[in-house]
Amino acid sequence: MPAEVQYNRQGDTAVIRICNPPVNALGQAVRAGMLDCLEKAEKDEGVRAVLLVGDGRTFIAGADIREFGKPPQAPHLPDVCNRIEASALLVVASMHGVSLGGGLEVALSAHYRIAQPGARVGLPEVHLGLLPGAGGTQRLPRVAGAAAAVDLITSGRHVGADEARTLGILDEVREGDPEAVGLAYITELLAAGLGPRPVSRMPPHDALDWDAVYAATLRKGRGQISPAQAVRAIQASAELPFAEGLKEERRMFRELMETDQRQGMIHAFFSERAVSSLPELKGVEPRDVRHVAVIGGGTMGAGIATAVLLAGLTVTLLEMSQQAAVAAKERIAGNLAGALKRGKISEAAYDGMLQDRLVLTTSYDDLSDVDLVIEAVFEDMQVKKQVFSQLEAVCRPGAVLATNTSYLDIDEIATVTDRPGDVIGLHFFSPAHVMKLLEVVVTDQTAPEVVATGFALGKALGKTSVRAGVCDGFIGNRILNTYRTAADHMVLDGASPWQIDKALTGFGFAMGPFAVADLAGLDIGWAMRKRRAPDRDARERVGRYPDVLCEAGHFGQKTGTGFYVYEAGSRAGAPNRNLEQIIAAERAERGIRPRAFTEEEIVRRYMAAMVNEAAKVVGEGIARRPLDVDMVLLAGYGFPRYRGGPLKWADMTGLKSVLADIETFAREDDFFWQPAPLLEKLVREGRSFDDLNKAG
Ligand code: CAA
Repeated sequence: MPAEVQYNRQGDTAVIRICNPPVNALGQAVRAGMLDCLEKAEKDEGVRAVLLVGDGRTFIAGADIREFGKPPQAPHLPDVCNRIEASALLVVASMHGVSLGGGLEVALSAHYRIAQPGARVGLPEVHLGLLPGAGGTQRLPRVAGAAAAVDLITSGRHVGADEARTLGILDEVREGDPEAVGLAYITELLAAGLGPRPVSRMPPHDALDWDAVYAATLRKGRGQISPAQAVRAIQASAELPFAEGLKEERRMFRELMETDQRQGMIHAFFSERAVSSLPELKGVEPRDVRHVAVIGGGTMGAGIATAVLLAGLTVTLLEMSQQAAVAAKERIAGNLAGALKRGKISEAAYDGMLQDRLVLTTSYDDLSDVDLVIEAVFEDMQVKKQVFSQLEAVCRPGAVLATNTSYLDIDEIATVTDRPGDVIGLHFFSPAHVMKLLEVVVTDQTAPEVVATGFALGKALGKTSVRAGVCDGFIGNRILNTYRTAADHMVLDGASPWQIDKALTGFGFAMGPFAVADLAGLDIGWAMRKRRAPDRDARERVGRYPDVLCEAGHFGQKTGTGFYVYEAGSRAGAPNRNLEQIIAAERAERGIRPRAFTEEEIVRRYMAAMVNEAAKVVGEGIARRPLDVDMVLLAGYGFPRYRGGPLKWADMTGLKSVLADIETFAREDDFFWQPAPLLEKLVREGRSFDDLNKAG
């Protein structure tokens, strides 16, 4: 018997215990062990029932994701599930922690299910680009109904024990040791004369308007195929006999397993976990952070303060005047009211944050004993230096001094202090209490435990934290600047901003770059272009048409006009037709004869620019690994998760073909399209970005 599954007899019940830490994933040894144990139980004289339990923190977190993409090894999970269900013994699953994916499918093949009050269940396979492949799409609708099955499987959401019981997924919810609770339940079931109750024999459920549900799911997924496929699999459970439905599910599961989307989603899953595990942080203890100061209470500062309050820490917010401090508090209250409305916090928590854990001040002296400071003042080197000089004077030794700058040189900011080891960049994305991404920007002198503290704070705030080195724009904004430029060039050459946005939402981006610019405010890019103008290389092509909009006071959504025109109160704009004349005038002035672009060419150019800059960012060590770049684009820039990130996308597209595109585009503009040395090297050596991820 493999060590991963243990057999032990308790009276007339055989206890099958899954022992595969950390999360009891259903690897080959576990699947084989479960079958062996079941057979043993069936032969074991006097055994009347089988109890399935998980050892450690959880019942079963699902299939072993590391096996995906490799040749499947028998016994296969659907067969294990069918075998469990078909047993003549009474089989009960007693669940604690999570029962996800294959874990819930195993439980659904048991005859009764009991769980701890804190247990959660779910079929999250769509988040891996798959659908439940071991009967989940056939058994769940039989216990919970079609509508609930569609909701759970297409969203992949985790459901708490009480809701799962209401839905019919669980039979009982009881507190106690899972084995003891399960054994007691079995005693009751046997005493009541109950025996096997296969879900597969339960009557089919209500039918839905399957085509409508399929179409709505496809739309919502922005091109992600697995949730929509899952609808078809659930449909099969309503329309076909169980065994046929199971075959359909298996066929679709196998098809999805072969897709790039599955690869992209699984890359995202593992990268999300790898991103905060850096060799330099091994064994390094972060500093204790309970009290955070935020300097500046504008949109960004208030968002950061909100995020810190929501994480349960205390915030002192420093503003220039009492009036500004009151306005900052109002912004924070507004943010928290949003969280209250969405049910994320209680009324009492809301009051506690504003009354007990938020302190307003206009004096630096009040920052003398905070653990960490984040400044979010105006983006100007002199202003930042002044702030850091003040912090140097008042903050206690050991306090972490962080800047939220988006592009300024943090090494230079650190020169005004005598403790450059304590200085770090913590770059949040607006709105800071909502956006997942945090760039932890490390200077040449930042101490390792200060880096560890940045990551620990990011974790407390629920962020995806990515290490970045210092350069203009760090990882995300530097790459954004390049692909935005590629988009601007296409506008100059003949595409419209709306056509570009449409091509990119078609690719799966949440929004196109011009709609994003309208949302962020066109003044941001305008200020950046002005800042860069003095040092600009004469060969750089920079469109003037966005400046013309800004000069007329059109800054996007906040002024009602930008690349799009917004009706009062509406976030969806209609193309700004006046812009066509502005662009046409600029083309005429530059002697450009506009040409047509297909959506395919737009995507190719945009992605080539993104991948090329990303490769430079990795090659220069600004990002440690390709996966760090992928996580930045996924968590902060609306890149479609099912494509895994730009460098995973590049690997799947083929680095050779991406480089060939760049070389072709370079024939028109060899200044902008300079191939990244790292990309050239990988192509020469026949290697991929993922090879670099694996190398660590
Ligand atoms: N397979 C392999 N490894 C897994 C895993 C799985 N299903 N689930 C988690 N792990 C690993 C993680 O990679 C991590 O490893 P490292 O420590 O080496 O980084 C470790 O287990 C702990 O995981 P987390 O850090 O995520 O711990 P957590 O407590 O924050 O979360 C969890 C635990 C809720 C189980 C979370 O890991 C999770 O959501 N896992 C994925 C669950 C899932 O998607 N299951 C469905 C699988 S697909 C399937 O089952 C298909 C089918 O129908 C046959």
